[in-house]
Amino acid sequence: VNMTVFYWVHVLFNGFYTKTDDGDLLTQLKDQDASVIATDKYKDRVSMAENSSLLIAAATLKDEKTFTCMVVAGADISEYPVKLLIHKAPTGVEITALATELEIGKPTQLGQCRTSDANPAASITWFKNKKPLVADGKGTSNVKVDEATGLTTTSSTLQYTAEKGDTAALFTCGALNTLSSPVSFTVTYPTERISLHVISKGPLMEGANMTLKCKADGNPPPTSFNFHILGKVVKVENSDSYTVTDVTRESTGEYKCSIIDNAKMEDSKNITINYLDMSLSPSGKVMKSFGEGLALTLQTHASGELKDNGKLDSSPKFDKLTYSDSGKYEVVVTMGALIKKDSFELVVEGVPVIRRVAKRRSEDGQHKVLTCEAEGSPKPTVAWSVNGTSADESPYVNGKITHKLTIVPTVNLTVVCTVSNEHGQDTRTINVSTLFEEVRMDKQDSSDEGDTTKLVVGVIVGLLLATVVVGLAYWLYMKKSKQGSWKTGEKEDGSTEESKKLEEKIEEKLEENSQKVEV
Ligand SMILES: *[C@@H]1O[C@H](CO)[C@@H](O)[C@H](O)[C@H]1NC(C)=O
Ligand SMILES: *[C@@H]1O[C@H](CO)[C@@H](O)[C@H](O)[C@H]1NC(C)=O
Ligand SMILES: *[C@@H]1O[C@H](CO)[C@@H](O)[C@H](O)[C@H]1NC(C)=O
Ligand SMILES: *[C@@H]1O[C@H](CO)[C@@H](O)[C@H](O)[C@H]1NC(C)=O
Ligand SMILES: *[C@@H]1O[C@H](CO)[C@@H](O)[C@H](O)[C@H]1NC(C)=O
Repeated sequence: VNMTVFYWVHVLFNGFYTKTDDGDLLTQLKDQDASVIATDKYKDRVSMAENSSLLIAAATLKDEKTFTCMVVAGADISEYPVKLLIHKAPTGVEITALATELEIGKPTQLGQCRTSDANPAASITWFKNKKPLVADGKGTSNVKVDEATGLTTTSSTLQYTAEKGDTAALFTCGALNTLSSPVSFTVTYPTERISLHVISKGPLMEGANMTLKCKADGNPPPTSFNFHILGKVVKVENSDSYTVTDVTRESTGEYKCSIIDNAKMEDSKNITINYLDMSLSPSGKVMKSFGEGLALTLQTHASGELKDNGKLDSSPKFDKLTYSDSGKYEVVVTMGALIKKDSFELVVEGVPVIRRVAKRRSEDGQHKVLTCEAEGSPKPTVAWSVNGTSADESPYVNGKITHKLTIVPTVNLTVVCTVSNEHGQDTRTINVSTLFEEVRMDKQDSSDEGDTTKLVVGVIVGLLLATVVVGLAYWLYMKKSKQGSWKTGEKEDGSTEESKKLEEKIEEKLEENSQKVEV
């Protein structure tokens, strides 16, 4: 008869193995349901599975004991002790007490990593960029057990010596499969190299502002510097720059910068300031007389090479000045980005001279138009010796002026045109015949012709009559053809076409008035 009894007891494991009656949990007789014997806290938490396993509900750390199964078969009693371990994953991992910054080469406590409520006690590992980090011995690890729950809190501090490149490194710590949020640090290191820079677009020219900038590679960068400006030391605080305003060629020389607390940490540069001097002769306002010569000279002195060597190769030649040479002349000298200009204003003056006087019968034949063309500067005033109408003056261009006057001459006139300015005057006369005389002359001519015919007939009548008649006929024929072509005794001058051409010329000259010379 096999009567098997499963008998689960729990024992307190304290070095010995003690069975107590109190510790009996449950028992099961063959072919019967298990019955709970326990009366203590296990009373409602234990049960036996069909396969005779002991099931414990709501386990806590206090269940970490040795449980023994006893099997009784007849007189044989077998015992199977089972040591129960309760595991509890930590609730979280976090890094606190972060270092404010890491200084290269100086061991610093990076922070404290803490993980709580774990069983068995969790071990903490530090990582840098996900790679495990070995503390350099001075870090500490600390395990604390909560008396109520029996769970442990583990904390670990990392002593770490930063190196260059740790600025962007991410540090984490982990326990079991749990990782903390990453943390990073400002890594500080002293300045090892310093460099001086000149902030300027292109080469430095006289008159520019020159900014010197001192760069140091430390972190944080130094806030104060000493600038050595041509041997003079200037201390600059809360800035890494110093500006020298309005530099001149004397500013050329050696410039340095250094950090305040270490004069040996310095950088220097030889800086050259470019310059360009020029002088144009003449300059300002230049008054010259018509026909005079004018020599231009340009002197340049520069730190670099000039286009065309700074000579006035393409300058205008003024051997004999004319009024159209008046105007503003500018010379531009360039050296790289440096541009210098100089200019003078030329005014050519002279006694007015009448170039031409002319007369012309108007198209309707009722009056005559007189023209007086003069040249001179300043602008001459034009006066006529007769009164007329429709006085008209052309624009005064390149020293030239044309004055027109319409008259109706009742008698033969000798008309004087007078032009004058502050330098003197000129006059010209022109003979103008009367308009009315011409009309009478035409009538007289035909009566004269009749008288002459009578006289000739009276004297030589009877003699060479036939010859005279033939001669007279020939003479009449010649006279008639002369009348047909004869219009006026005056030479006609100054047609409208001619005056148009003159105006065009004046306009062309207008555009030439301002000249520019580039060097
Ligand atoms: C016994 O039964 C329990 C509950 O049914 C189960 O969890 C356990 O794995 C079983 N053990 C074996 C060894 O089959
Ligand atoms: C600047 O010029 C001086 C004198 O010519 C020379 O001794 C010095 O080395 C130069 N410094 C640099 C940075 O070139
Ligand atoms: C021109 O007219 C003015 C008055 O209008 C007169 O005094 C002067 O004598 C005139 N001159 C000539 C030349 O006829
Ligand atoms: C006017 O001049 C014309 C020639 O130009 C001459 O024939 C005429 O006799 C002159 N008349 C007077 C009144 O002088
Ligand atoms: C104008 O006529 C006068 C005589 O009446 C003469 O002496 C003079 O030369 C003439 N002038 C011109 C410009 O023809």
